[in-house]
Amino acid sequence: MNIIYLDNCATTRVDEEVLDAMLPYLREDFGNPSSPHVLGKRARRAVDLAAASVGELLGADPSTIVFTSGATESNNIALLGLFEHEDRAPVNAVFCPTDHKSSLSIGSALAARGVDTRTMAVREDGQADLADLRAKLDAHTRVATAAWVNSEIGTIQPIAQMAALCHEAGALLHVDGAQAAGRIPIDVNAEGIDTLSLSAHKVHGPKGVGALYARREVRRRLRPVMYGGGQHELRSGTIPTHLVVGLGAACRLAQRRLNDNWTAITRLREVALKVLTDRVPGFRFNGDPNISVPHVLNVVLPGVRGESLVAGLHRVALSTGSACNSDSQEPSYVLTAIGVAADDANSSVRICLSPQLSEEDLVTGLELVCERARGLAEVVTGASTHYR
Ligand SMILES: Cc1ncc(COP(=O)(O)O)c(C=O)c1O
Repeated sequence: MNIIYLDNCATTRVDEEVLDAMLPYLREDFGNPSSPHVLGKRARRAVDLAAASVGELLGADPSTIVFTSGATESNNIALLGLFEHEDRAPVNAVFCPTDHKSSLSIGSALAARGVDTRTMAVREDGQADLADLRAKLDAHTRVATAAWVNSEIGTIQPIAQMAALCHEAGALLHVDGAQAAGRIPIDVNAEGIDTLSLSAHKVHGPKGVGALYARREVRRRLRPVMYGGGQHELRSGTIPTHLVVGLGAACRLAQRRLNDNWTAITRLREVALKVLTDRVPGFRFNGDPNISVPHVLNVVLPGVRGESLVAGLHRVALSTGSACNSDSQEPSYVLTAIGVAADDANSSVRICLSPQLSEEDLVTGLELVCERARGLAEVVTGASTHYR
């Protein structure tokens, strides 16, 4: 059975072009990129090309790119790595409450070590409240962090303005770019970004590989969070050539298709809106679609529990929010932080589009979602009046 996949923020299907680029490094070119012999040199050239491709996607020099196992690890190196020094003066860090758990849990770990962790306010539309961010920054702030594109509601944060505020206060800005890289144009220098995380599996690359961009002057301040052979001063461990090659190929593909993908996904969003408007008159968005990426639609389907809806669908794969929170019975902390009432948050689902999706499959998938929502609303509230 063909599964209609509407969960492209959780992960994406590996593109055939990416897979083809990877396979030779699992077969004949399996050398260790640190080895001095001919196979090692071939692997090293492939890794260098991947660093150049990631750099190009970000507008960064390849020497500023460190390969990691994904955005979670990149966030850990960028944020924990700044606090591995002996601190005599009081220090603080500012977090964004709608960010992914891979940033927020680092905040908890830092707080347990005695770092003063602060939370910037977010507005109802999902963007950071810049006046509040300015108020939270002071001479002891080492870093503030924010996800460029929110993984549940798709909001795009005003990164250049946030970076300017951080720098005015003498702090750094770390950006979690897991949902932004390959989706929106990125120029780390123009935005004033100090460090940025990304992940291959969010852009049709393989799971288990990502990268950290760290501006040269910032890189000197970061300490590793794990120690080993020192293949790279910030991140030890044998470089998984095939994965890194996959990341590079995914970045080249994303860059080549950036504009076409944006246009195609914007068109898909219009198709999705038409189905939703026809079938669920009066449905609401969470967040503000005008300041969001087109591939994320977080919508309230009245009278149903999002979790039950999602779990009962056999032909359509979508979720209510971040994959790492899907076991939680609580309403989404992202939706709660932007002021969505608990009932609406519990009735919300996240629809995440991809250029690999056909209009026909999207319509079929959403028809099935609405059909199931109608059935559940009938059972739960005794009335399915929200649905046609
Ligand atoms: C915004 C954001 N940051 C970080 C991550 C974690 O990425 P990875 O799976 O590469 O560790 C995700 C994955 O869902 C994400 O959406």
